[in-house]
Amino acid sequence: HQYTDKQWWNITDFQSSFPKRKENSHKGTHGRGLVIGGNHLMPGSVMMTTRAAVRSGAGLTTTGTSKSVISMMASSCNESMYIPIQEQEGYLSGASEIDYSVYDAVAIGMGIGRKKVTQKLIQETITAAKGILLVDADGLYHLKDQLNELKSRQKPTILTPHPGEMATLLDVTISEILQKPFSFSKEFAMEYGVYLVLKGKFTIITSPTGRQVVESGGNPGLAKGGSGDVLSGIILAMVMQDQPIFEAICNACYLHSASADNLVKEKHSVYDLTATDIIEGIPNVLRTLT
Ligand code: APR
Ligand code: MG
Repeated sequence: HQYTDKQWWNITDFQSSFPKRKENSHKGTHGRGLVIGGNHLMPGSVMMTTRAAVRSGAGLTTTGTSKSVISMMASSCNESMYIPIQEQEGYLSGASEIDYSVYDAVAIGMGIGRKKVTQKLIQETITAAKGILLVDADGLYHLKDQLNELKSRQKPTILTPHPGEMATLLDVTISEILQKPFSFSKEFAMEYGVYLVLKGKFTIITSPTGRQVVESGGNPGLAKGGSGDVLSGIILAMVMQDQPIFEAICNACYLHSASADNLVKEKHSVYDLTATDIIEGIPNVLRTLT
């Protein structure tokens, strides 16, 4: 019943609001994005976020991660640029090497791990990143004690928790979140002035003013490690395009789900679908729906 009076983001919303690419556009028009994440044991997440951003139309994409992850990524992700970030025993620990002023948007947290040394990087990024900031995965874990810092950000902040991460942020149980996802989302988004994407079978997108939209596509093929990392990359690319940010986030969620749904119809099953497949399914959605 909580869902009945809500706005659902459907194919018509996607098609009518998806930004057209201008004939004379150049890479700067489509955004300079930075993805920060990974550690020596989790190279895949930041790689998938980066590749998803590239596939979803970002103008220029840079990846900030550890040296070992860069050496793994660089040969298979030609389109990205790389910044080696200070690390301690394979975990990211510094941010001084990053010139945040050149990025329109930063996504941080995928595969970053929960080591204490990484907390400082999240802290520095919140204040130093002057553009749009997206925090996901273990970035949200480190954010927990610094939520009030978000209130002084000048540009939009986007948080993309699954119910477990949302429960940790709020110090409540997952079942409490699942019982009242709309009110928890709204209260949180308004309190901290963030765009909140509470992920799941029904993904709820909430703006800092309390506007809420539900995106209900996708299938259990997405219930696998890495699909959230892909979503972060798609959101990063979409919020840098010529479109209001709320619609951009909704369209990113739609694109992610539509890719998974098409793939399960045409080529894969919910069993074998992988997060990497979802990236490779983006072209078909963009070609047929926009
Ligand atoms: N139906 C539709 N969509 C689904 C379904 C489903 N049954 N299951 C999952 N999804 C979608 C969600 O809406 C979301 O977009 O797949 C994505 C899953 O995202 P996450 O929960 O963040 O999963 P994951 O990619 O594994 O996260 C990677 O970050 O959140 C941490 O603990 C997590 O370390 C892991 C990492
Ligand atoms: Mg995740």
